[in-house]
Amino acid sequence: MKLEAIRIQNYRAIRKLHVKDLPSFMVVVGANGSGKSTFFDVFGFLRDALRGNVRQALDARGRFQEVVTRGHENETILIELLVRIPIAGSLRKVTYHLEIGLDDKRPSIRKEILRYTRGPRGRPFDFLSFTNGRGYAVRNEQDLSKRDEELDRDDQVLDSPDILAIKGLGQFERFKAASALRQLLENWHVSDFHIGAARGRKEATGTTEHLSETGDNLPRVAQYLYENHREAFDVILAKMKRRVPGLAGVEPELTQDGYLILRFRDGSF
Ligand SMILES: Nc1ncnc2c1ncn2[C@@H]1O[C@H](COP(=O)(O)OP(=O)(O)O)[C@@H](O)[C@H]1O
Ligand SMILES: [Mg+2]
Repeated sequence: MKLEAIRIQNYRAIRKLHVKDLPSFMVVVGANGSGKSTFFDVFGFLRDALRGNVRQALDARGRFQEVVTRGHENETILIELLVRIPIAGSLRKVTYHLEIGLDDKRPSIRKEILRYTRGPRGRPFDFLSFTNGRGYAVRNEQDLSKRDEELDRDDQVLDSPDILAIKGLGQFERFKAASALRQLLENWHVSDFHIGAARGRKEATGTTEHLSETGDNLPRVAQYLYENHREAFDVILAKMKRRVPGLAGVEPELTQDGYLILRFRDGSF
């Protein structure tokens, strides 16, 4: 999977943003309050919306009125992703377009579209299109003998207008594109690392394979890597030594009571 571009409108501090040609590694620099955290929160928002529904994702952030950019309350919140994902055996450039508005004080999905080009000479085609809980998804998209217009559309009504169609339909194998995108967003992991939270001894709770959202499980992630992926762990230590100025080395040591201790050797002492 590769995220190639993202377009955001009316999401908190972000009135209008279009980032193209996203690199694999990116550093965002800006003054306080300029919207860096907001930018990354969009990924958490999509994941929350997929785990629950759009209303829940908004509620967790202070409801629609708090999330939509101030002064633009009558407009929609727009999030559009351009991703490369494998669908039915080949890698495709997919546009996922999501627009959220307020209907009678209830958040509702005004537009949800999944668009991509099937064949090498084809044109972009909407394989899924929903408005306020109603729409269609294409079923037999991998049937290359059929032209786009000849594909079978399944008309669908979702349980509620704040449920993502890729959630409602993504569970069904026959909707390949919806399933692929759903898996992508579900497996998204956003961590807003705070060094203070990562410090100190931590009692074992929760998962250890992934860094938590704040990084407060760093000691246990380190221990997990040490015990289960020793080669990768040693590579990390070797890189630390090379990249951290003044660091002569890091030695791991497992204590009697089962804790992993890292000894950092300062080059000048
Ligand atoms: N609905 C909104 N409309 C406009 N601005 C907002 C909205 N919600 C939050 N903000 C503003 O967004 C800013 C927070 O941006 P943030 O992403 O935390 O910045 P950074 O991480 O770059 O320091 C604050 O100045 C806050 O007032
Ligand atoms: Mg911030």
